[in-house]
Amino acid sequence: MNRSDCIDAGTEYCPCYLAEVGECIMCSQLQGKVFCDCTNWKGVCILQEYVWNHARSKPSRGLFRGQILGAEEVAADVLLLTLQVNRTLARELNQPGAYVFLRPPGTAEYFDIPTSVMRADERLETIVLALQQRGVKTKYLFKQRTEKADQEILLRGPYWNGILGLRHLKGLHHAKALLLLRGIGQAPAVPVAKKLRQGGNEVEVLLDPGRIKNFTTALFQEMGCRVLPKIILDLEKLTLRADVLAYLREKILTDGVKLIYCGGPVFLTQGVSNLLQELRSQVALVCSNNTKLCCGEGVCGSCQTRLKNGTRVKSCKTQIDPWEVYR
Ligand code: FES
Repeated sequence: MNRSDCIDAGTEYCPCYLAEVGECIMCSQLQGKVFCDCTNWKGVCILQEYVWNHARSKPSRGLFRGQILGAEEVAADVLLLTLQVNRTLARELNQPGAYVFLRPPGTAEYFDIPTSVMRADERLETIVLALQQRGVKTKYLFKQRTEKADQEILLRGPYWNGILGLRHLKGLHHAKALLLLRGIGQAPAVPVAKKLRQGGNEVEVLLDPGRIKNFTTALFQEMGCRVLPKIILDLEKLTLRADVLAYLREKILTDGVKLIYCGGPVFLTQGVSNLLQELRSQVALVCSNNTKLCCGEGVCGSCQTRLKNGTRVKSCKTQIDPWEVYR
């Protein structure tokens, strides 16, 4: 069964531009078909919303001016930014998979950097983001900050599809979960652990610092997670280390882990997927969405991903099961 789902369906941003051009991810009639074959009902008829909105898309996400309250260098080339936003945005971003596009004031839209939200506080109206200096856009933002010490930053959002397999995450209660994290992948895993703990789950975190360092250990421990610092990847073979594979086997076969979340490079998730397939395991796989996000609106096509059935989806908006990609 195809579990593809639009992350924006039923929200204030639905229907979007895709409906206007016959490319809606979910509604068969807005794809030009003559009958309704709605399989993933979200409580709202997208076609009806479209008709009521005079056959137009709803207004798209706005641009906010976020005030920088703090910028802490937690590791070489990693900044922890605390931003003052408004209550609505903080509430909307307070969930696993939430992200925003960031850019320095005065720069063009192609400087937008997709950045996961590590923490959001609705009461204080703040969000915390971890930003690693890697490519042109992040280097430019770091340079701007050093030279100008700008206290403002532009934000576009909220977006929510930063994690694949969200239904497994939301549906797990009173069970055991294992998080495998590497490098900057530890930041978006903080809301993942929070969600799992809210569901009464036992959470263990294997934390590999990668090229940076572990800056989330205390946060995971505060939530009641067990944190194990561990080198996870064999970078020569681009796969999981043998001792990690043995540890995972034990966790899956004898310890009863029901969900594994992978927050790191694609070959980390691929390694876990290979193991689960080898063991014919029913353990749920959840992972970070590692595609290149550019517009976030299903328009530019930079995030296009091919599924195992050969179809292509735009993974900035399509909520897919990791099994559809890592096979
Ligand atoms: S990021 Fe542009 S279509 Fe997905």
